[in-house]
Amino acid sequence: MAMTELTQEIRKRLTFAIISHPDAGKTTITEKLLLFGGAIHIAGAVKSGKNTRAAVSDFMEMEKERGISISTSVMGFEYKGRKVNLLDTPGHADFSEDTYRGLSAVDSALIVIDSVKGVEERTRKLCEVCRMRATPIATFVNKLDREGKDPMELLDEIEKELAVQVRPVTWPIGQGRHFKGVYSLIEKKLFLFRAGQAQLPSDVVSIDDLDDPELDRLVGDTEARKLREDAAILGGVYPEFSSAEYLDGTATPVFFGSALNNFGVRELLDSLVSLAPYPTAKNAEEREVMPEENKFSGFVFKIHANMNPKHRDRVAFLRICSGKFERNKTYYHVRSGKPFRTASPTAFMSQDREIIDEAWPGDIIGLHDTGTFKIGDSLTEGESVNFKGIPSFAPQIFRVIRNTDPLKEKQFHKGLNQLAEEGVAQIFSKPHQANVRVLGVVGQLQLDVLQYRLEHEYGASCAYEPVDYTIAHWVTADDKKALQDFVDENFRKILVDIRGTHILMSDSPWTFNRVKQLNPAVKFYTTSEMVESRA
Ligand code: G4P
Repeated sequence: MAMTELTQEIRKRLTFAIISHPDAGKTTITEKLLLFGGAIHIAGAVKSGKNTRAAVSDFMEMEKERGISISTSVMGFEYKGRKVNLLDTPGHADFSEDTYRGLSAVDSALIVIDSVKGVEERTRKLCEVCRMRATPIATFVNKLDREGKDPMELLDEIEKELAVQVRPVTWPIGQGRHFKGVYSLIEKKLFLFRAGQAQLPSDVVSIDDLDDPELDRLVGDTEARKLREDAAILGGVYPEFSSAEYLDGTATPVFFGSALNNFGVRELLDSLVSLAPYPTAKNAEEREVMPEENKFSGFVFKIHANMNPKHRDRVAFLRICSGKFERNKTYYHVRSGKPFRTASPTAFMSQDREIIDEAWPGDIIGLHDTGTFKIGDSLTEGESVNFKGIPSFAPQIFRVIRNTDPLKEKQFHKGLNQLAEEGVAQIFSKPHQANVRVLGVVGQLQLDVLQYRLEHEYGASCAYEPVDYTIAHWVTADDKKALQDFVDENFRKILVDIRGTHILMSDSPWTFNRVKQLNPAVKFYTTSEMVESRA
């Protein structure tokens, strides 16, 4: 049977995100990928999202710039017959919640690890999210041109720290000043490295048998001997790479290279194009939604505000999960139960935003939004499906927020609600003090941004007051009465999120563990997603 247009389009698509700790080389790799895909033509065109110690005003300037070239959030390009959708994940550590959500919109992830620093904190956290959803992960160990950790130790570290089995696909020959290139254990090819120079066709040499003396000639006796020893050890320790293990998220293929030197990145992209999954099924509360279903469905995972107060419009980023999306067709906005139609959906190809007539599963489109959408909203052709996997994460910093200008009460509440909808911060209330608003954020910068934007975009001013707890757990219980008793007993330490789910606040791991031990009937989770999926 001939493939339908829908199936053909699905099989073309590859939607993934690059995740890493700041400075590992995400921007550099992104840029190289875009160069190969013809989406940009000069190096230096991709702005790094980092700026780790920036003052809030610098950060806002940076965000304004990003707002103008909003397309950098999703970068689409064609490569070897695939339409690649690459999702940018914010570089700033304080905005990791946005990153977590972005991972719900992709079908696989690429992890970049700095060979000098090894597995770092943010990588570990992001990887946890991938594991929670069994997202396939490929790994690129970067900066081999520097003296880094021993590659064998790095493999151990990745396996242990990221709790995923590793399968080396390429293997480095030397490191730092002695870096000679990589050997592809699967293709049996040698890729020779020339510092600061472009690779020539003659730098790729087939070496089927590592005992071939050609190897010694090309990389020197010492490195050739080392490669033979390493290959023997790897062969004994790691089973051969199987795409099934990668696709079900249990094993990660590991590649080595140097993004700055454009070494190993094209091979990585070639592998992703042939290995990485097509758009996959997405879980909704009601059922699993398959991309091949004829009826369109999708969900909003990000909302980007226009920072210009004169144009308070927003762009909602929608991931298409099934069927074909068409411009000017009337869809169903599940949360409100209202129809939704747009004449100007945009795609993110190259570095431009362009209006499109249709889009397919795996694609991410921008919907001009005047306040219709919230993060997590679904659009369908009429069915009520609510997609899962757009979780809130336990914030680490909490503050009571107060309005400091009584004349601006209305602006204050409007601004606060809209900014929370955009995901700038999570808002909680107290069960017995309905007027008290507690903000939860992952990083201090989010608080500064919220205050800045309230003032500049809504003309409202606010102040923060400290609270004496730092740890949050969403709580649930199979027995509804047990949950209510627990909430009543601990009411001073309970907050309620916007969905009405209770959260237990603790001031230390010790007090939390005590409460947990005393209440075996109650379940505690660090993300809202777990509550939803188990509730
Ligand atoms: P990020 O987006 O993950 O934060 O990392 P980014 O690509 O900005 O890279 C961080 C730093 O690491 C940059 O240097 C970049 O040039 C360097 N880098 C990336 N890949 C490699 C590599 O393969 N080898 C080496 N030696 N360095 C690499 P920087 O000095 O912070 O910035 P810049 O002034 O070079 O832009």
